[in-house]
Amino acid sequence: MSEKKIPVIIDCDPGCDDTAALLLAFRCPEFDIRAVTTVSGNVSLDKTTYNALRVTEVIGTDVPVHAGADRPMFREPVYAPHVHGEDGLLGIGLPAPKKTASSVHAWDAIYREAEAQKGELEIIAVGPLTNLGIALAKYGDLAEKIKRIVIMGGAAQGGNVTPCAEFNIYVDPEAADLVMKSGIPLCVCGLDVTLKAYLTAAEIREIKAMGTPQGSLFGAVTEQNCEKVFCPAGAPLHDPAAVLFAAYPDLFTAQRCWMRVETAGELTRGKTVTDCWSDAQKEANVDLVLDLDRERFAAKVKALMAEY
Ligand code: RIB
Ligand code: CA
Repeated sequence: MSEKKIPVIIDCDPGCDDTAALLLAFRCPEFDIRAVTTVSGNVSLDKTTYNALRVTEVIGTDVPVHAGADRPMFREPVYAPHVHGEDGLLGIGLPAPKKTASSVHAWDAIYREAEAQKGELEIIAVGPLTNLGIALAKYGDLAEKIKRIVIMGGAAQGGNVTPCAEFNIYVDPEAADLVMKSGIPLCVCGLDVTLKAYLTAAEIREIKAMGTPQGSLFGAVTEQNCEKVFCPAGAPLHDPAAVLFAAYPDLFTAQRCWMRVETAGELTRGKTVTDCWSDAQKEANVDLVLDLDRERFAAKVKALMAEY
């Protein structure tokens, strides 16, 4: 590992798997996490922000939390309480946070940190991409200041909100397409890989058995998704897959391809249209992550959680 840490902002909508992603990210020695930014997604912005504050206090970090967009750029909000619970964390009784969110909006925090990091800042975006869409719209020179964005979102094939669309992209397709067109180096961890990035029930039990508050929280936010029809072998770790890709890309397989987002269709809203399954000759703009070594992924997740 090169000694220089990667300066990172985690943009999220906690959310259960976002919580698992935060737990893991703060134990990756590769990262210098500069901020957590929140967005409306799994639940409303007030709840995703409250959850980010509560979860970062369980983690034990004083990294700032910046609230961002309370709705998509051009559409009505879409939430997923049926997956994450009304409060976004399945009603598990985490203590109320002692700290409050920063008064600096997420999009302004992203720009300021991008400037401060002199082109080295990476964003791990695991919620709807509204904050990045707004930041790109507000700051014309932002794209040249961000080194890379690793996205949990989309799918070359299929979807989980509609047959065509994955939740993060479906919620705000216009913001997602602004990101796709931005020219920023992009790595996309869609359902193609995240449904393979699972932990088994036994592996989750191992983490819970570590006996730490963080291990208990990890178990509480992952076990409910175990062995469902969309992933019979275990619990898919959508957002943690993006975090681990950013830190340990050798666990994964990716290919260069072209990708844009459908924003005009009714049935196809939020589809990530990609040419990786065709011979269309378009200029590639993303590294699409399609596969991983699951055993090594699971071992790394356990090793990181054991660091608490
Ligand atoms: O489709 C999975 C994604 O949507 C994850 O980021 C999950 O947290 C939800 O936001
Ligand atoms: Ca998320």
